[in-house]
Amino acid sequence: MSRRPPKACAASATIGKYKPKVKGSGPYEVCLSPTQRKELFGDQKVIGKSIGCGTFACVWQKDNGQVVKLTKDREDVEGLLSAKGSDRVVKVISIAELPASGLDVRSKKVIPVYAITAEKLTPLTSSQQKWLSKPLNSARTALLKSAEKYRGPAKQYQFPQPSELGRRACKGAVQTKKCETFISQFADAFGELFRKGVVFQDAHGGNFGIDSKGRWKILDLGYSGIKKRSIVPVLNGPSKKLRVLRRVR
Ligand SMILES: Nc1ncnc2c1ncn2[C@@H]1O[C@H](COP(=O)(O)OP(=O)(O)O)[C@@H](O)[C@H]1O
Ligand SMILES: [Mg+2]
Repeated sequence: MSRRPPKACAASATIGKYKPKVKGSGPYEVCLSPTQRKELFGDQKVIGKSIGCGTFACVWQKDNGQVVKLTKDREDVEGLLSAKGSDRVVKVISIAELPASGLDVRSKKVIPVYAITAEKLTPLTSSQQKWLSKPLNSARTALLKSAEKYRGPAKQYQFPQPSELGRRACKGAVQTKKCETFISQFADAFGELFRKGVVFQDAHGGNFGIDSKGRWKILDLGYSGIKKRSIVPVLNGPSKKLRVLRRVR
């Protein structure tokens, strides 16, 4: 976040990128009120530079080792809430809506921003992302096709033969064994999420990270097919506690 925020912002940053093919993309300015800053970062003196950014979000590290993701992507919020409990998805500590905290740079419209406090993951290295890119692409296509064809109850969905998918997708990959393991685990995780109502469509290297135990996890459920349906606590006053509230179906 910028060292000298505009007046009335306890912290501010411009995040988001415009991608012509990506609906809703584009830069926006975030301004945290003193209360929001305190709730999200405690008494942390310096918030510093973000440790990672994508098309919709940037992530900042907290003094306690967790991270805060500021995003305008409501679908990510819904995906993460629905995926709760999956050990292949980043562990979420809390989610809050920061009303009127964002300003869309292109349209000048005020937009809501969401703050997701989560465990910190280590992003995949660029070389890992490189060798995974093709296999991940081919596995994603096969998984989405299988999910699309599936007619049974979502809760019973299982991808057939994850290890066979791994072998097929990883043919010719530099790290064949590692690749096969990853892809078959990925197929299992895809199935687990599907049973929870989440269709993980945005599988690329930048959306995975490694936790403190060395286990890979999904960190972005932006394209999960779930539109707004939850109640998210609003963080605009000192009395509001950060808590994930009940979900509405
Ligand atoms: N829990 C996390 N720990 C560490 N870095 C993260 C975490 N979540 C996201 N990031 C970093 O922030 C980037 C943007 O987050 P992401 O959720 O993918 O946003 P976008 O919707 O913009 O793609 C990621 O590519 C990753 O580098
Ligand atoms: Mg992403």
